[in-house]
Amino acid sequence: MTLTNAQVDWHHWLQRWDAQQSGYLPHREERFQAMFDVLEQVLPPTFVAIDLACGPGAISQRLLTRFPQARCIAVDLDPVLLAIGRGALGDMAGRLRWVEVDLMQENWVQHLGEQHLGEQPVDAVLTTTALHWLSSDRLVGLYQQLGAIVRPGGVFLNSDVLPFPSYLPTFTTLSKTMQSRQEQQAFENQGGENWEQWWQAVADEPAFASLLEVRKHRFGTRSTEFEPILDVHEAGLRQAGFQEVGVIWQRFDDRILLAVR
Ligand SMILES: C[S@@+](CC[C@H](N)C(=O)[O-])C[C@H]1O[C@@H](n2cnc3c(N)ncnc32)[C@H](O)[C@@H]1O
Repeated sequence: MTLTNAQVDWHHWLQRWDAQQSGYLPHREERFQAMFDVLEQVLPPTFVAIDLACGPGAISQRLLTRFPQARCIAVDLDPVLLAIGRGALGDMAGRLRWVEVDLMQENWVQHLGEQHLGEQPVDAVLTTTALHWLSSDRLVGLYQQLGAIVRPGGVFLNSDVLPFPSYLPTFTTLSKTMQSRQEQQAFENQGGENWEQWWQAVADEPAFASLLEVRKHRFGTRSTEFEPILDVHEAGLRQAGFQEVGVIWQRFDDRILLAVR
């Protein structure tokens, strides 16, 4: 299903996505750059990265701009967000490849392409604001798969709300209070567009109608709010063969978890 550039202003929708996400995460851009600061120090200038659960490609766009010799594979299931990403960013001069696949599917890695199944392993996998959509079981399975495709010395970086465990209730309350203050500031005081309003605006755009149908079919009624705690992520990554696992950046429970293979 292809929409033409004449039908949709892709750049407008990409900017609108970024604004909506930044309402929830005022430090979103700082967080992206902190992830890239890690890559700059641990990888050579030429590398292959995966932007996992990429949405319209926020990581890919910024990574390929900051690292002119890198290549990126952007992976997601959402046909609307992928269409916006493809429409606005294209293939970034042949350095960006989009892959439409469900991370819940056990064999999703095979969709990355033959060259990433062994001979030419992946140097880095990055993901933002996404893996809380997966249950703990599936998350641990996904980390096993990442352990197999990231080369020794390569890295995994997950930026997301990685909640505190239940035995730290004060930490949890503090983090949740900060989050709701940020949202109040962005959406009530400053009138920014929130998640529901953004998707309503997409639904009001006739050119998106058929993609929205596909989206509804793909996601169905699946839950998208599991939020496994930090400890589950750390244990899953260690079990998957990552040698060093720890938080490298943090604002309350919004963290960047770094794992070195
Ligand atoms: C809040 S968005 C974040 C997108 C992007 N990483 C960003 O920071 O702008 C969460 C993304 O996870 C993707 N996602 C959730 N579950 C998925 C799955 N099972 N397979 C592939 N992508 C998934 C959604 O489609 C969505 O694009």
